[in-house]
Amino acid sequence: MRMLHLQVLCLVSVLMLCKGQDSECDNFTDLFFHESFIGTNLYVRLLLYTRAKLECGQELPHHTFTSQPLFNLSRPTAFVIHGYRPTGAPPIWIDHLVHLLARQEDMNILVVDWNRGACNLNYFTAIANTRGTAANLTGFIQRMQDEGASLDSIHLIGISLGAHVAGFIGAMLGGKIGRITGLDPAGPMFAGVSPEERLDPSDAQFVDVLHTDMDGFGLRGAHGHIDFYANGGSDQPGCPKTIFSGKAFFVCDHQRSVFLYLCALNRTCNLTAYPCSSYNDFLNGQCLQCEAFKPASCPVLGYDMSPWKDTLVKLGQTRAFFSTSNEFPYSKTSYRVDIVTWNQYLRWGVVILRLHSGKNVMETRMDHNRYRFEQYTSTRLLAQFDEDLYPIQKISLRISTGNVIGPRYKLRLLRIRITPLNQPERPLMCRYDIILEENMEVSFRPLPCSESND
Ligand SMILES: *[C@@H]1O[C@H](CO)[C@@H](O)[C@H](O)[C@H]1NC(C)=O
Ligand SMILES: *[C@@H]1O[C@H](CO)[C@@H](O)[C@H](O)[C@H]1NC(C)=O
Ligand SMILES: *[C@@H]1O[C@H](CO)[C@@H](O)[C@H](O)[C@H]1NC(C)=O
Ligand SMILES: *[C@@H]1O[C@H](CO)[C@@H](O)[C@H](O)[C@H]1NC(C)=O
Ligand SMILES: *[C@@H]1O[C@H](CO)[C@@H](O)[C@H](O)[C@H]1NC(C)=O
Repeated sequence: MRMLHLQVLCLVSVLMLCKGQDSECDNFTDLFFHESFIGTNLYVRLLLYTRAKLECGQELPHHTFTSQPLFNLSRPTAFVIHGYRPTGAPPIWIDHLVHLLARQEDMNILVVDWNRGACNLNYFTAIANTRGTAANLTGFIQRMQDEGASLDSIHLIGISLGAHVAGFIGAMLGGKIGRITGLDPAGPMFAGVSPEERLDPSDAQFVDVLHTDMDGFGLRGAHGHIDFYANGGSDQPGCPKTIFSGKAFFVCDHQRSVFLYLCALNRTCNLTAYPCSSYNDFLNGQCLQCEAFKPASCPVLGYDMSPWKDTLVKLGQTRAFFSTSNEFPYSKTSYRVDIVTWNQYLRWGVVILRLHSGKNVMETRMDHNRYRFEQYTSTRLLAQFDEDLYPIQKISLRISTGNVIGPRYKLRLLRIRITPLNQPERPLMCRYDIILEENMEVSFRPLPCSESND
């Protein structure tokens, strides 16, 4: 009886020990909403996560960090810097981002918690605190350098206002840190300011930026060596378009940048971006060339930019575009469609392309411009679908015009060639000599392409 008692006691104390270890987790500062009214003073905390301790953050001291054995200065270090936090609650994506980063490389992940500076109903106070946060983190990085860390292996990932914090740190360190990733850099109060007052390509050896809300909380323009514009960079599919949707109306487009980045880090999304001067030109199929990056593809949003980095730095600043669907996993399946016609056709019309695989059909409407099919000239279109069907057994094509009465124009296609853009290993699909009548669908089985390319 006494033995049992002891054993139980033992078990209890072991459990308590475990629990004790648990509460040693240092968590992101969780402020009460009322604190955003009264305001709080800037205080910068660093929460360390490593593969060895991924479930639990460890607050790293600013000065005596060498005493933390998990912080290994021979490894790369990623700083995750959040933005404005009007409600004071911790960001919902921290755990997710930390886990995905740890999977990329064995590194130190430092979640920067400047919530006490970012949580304020007054956005201007948060902006003012970006400089203090940047100065504080710069001091920390300099001490890391003193202890032997290399600036090359430092990656700052800044979200919204955090992207500008990253830019300020980069500038204070002479643009020598390895990389800055900006996720929808904050726009309000940063529009039209000089490069010193916002994120710009001179802030690091390599700067990559993702834009999702340029007409709202995000910043217009180009701020990195590569700027990725999701769906043109302003409005995201699936996000509410009216104020009646409440909070989502305000934050959905802006937050999408984080969700797309998470999806890309997990390689669930293949977001290949095409360099182009505008989203419209991209949608019109005018920018599907990737020769500049050979043997690599066009740049893909994500952690590993090594196949493109050198080319992008040489090019200076590149704007690149991709489209997404409205929900996870966001990726679209894209095809390049090249059509050579026997006669000329210069009219308004929507080109509707349907791909069939067994009982499944997916459709896309290409209505981005006035179609200009010149005689014997190849016209290029971009067809994007929310789903990926494979193999394609039947293709349907229709040109829909407003012209419902009167004679229908006919267009004789000498050749249609459909090239899968996401899966280069899949075969090209062709068909030769098709008569297309306005508002009438033609269907055909794809054939292998006879010529290799032109
Ligand atoms: C951190 O959060 C966990 C889970 O919510 C909790 O169990 C733990 O006590 C917290 N740690 C501290 C130091 O507050
Ligand atoms: C620190 O990281 C380096 C490189 O990954 C590794 O060789 C070394 O063993 C690590 N040191 C400790 C104490 O874990
Ligand atoms: C950064 O802030 C922390 C917490 O307030 C402080 O201990 C540290 O000295 C600051 N570092 C610099 C360089 O200001
Ligand atoms: C990564 O993606 C897989 C499948 O797409 C999913 O099951 C998994 O939960 C994702 N992991 C993270 C950390 O997002
Ligand atoms: C993403 O692209 C890579 C290479 O192009 C391919 O191996 C992978 O299967 C693709 N993933 C998805 C989810 O389409």
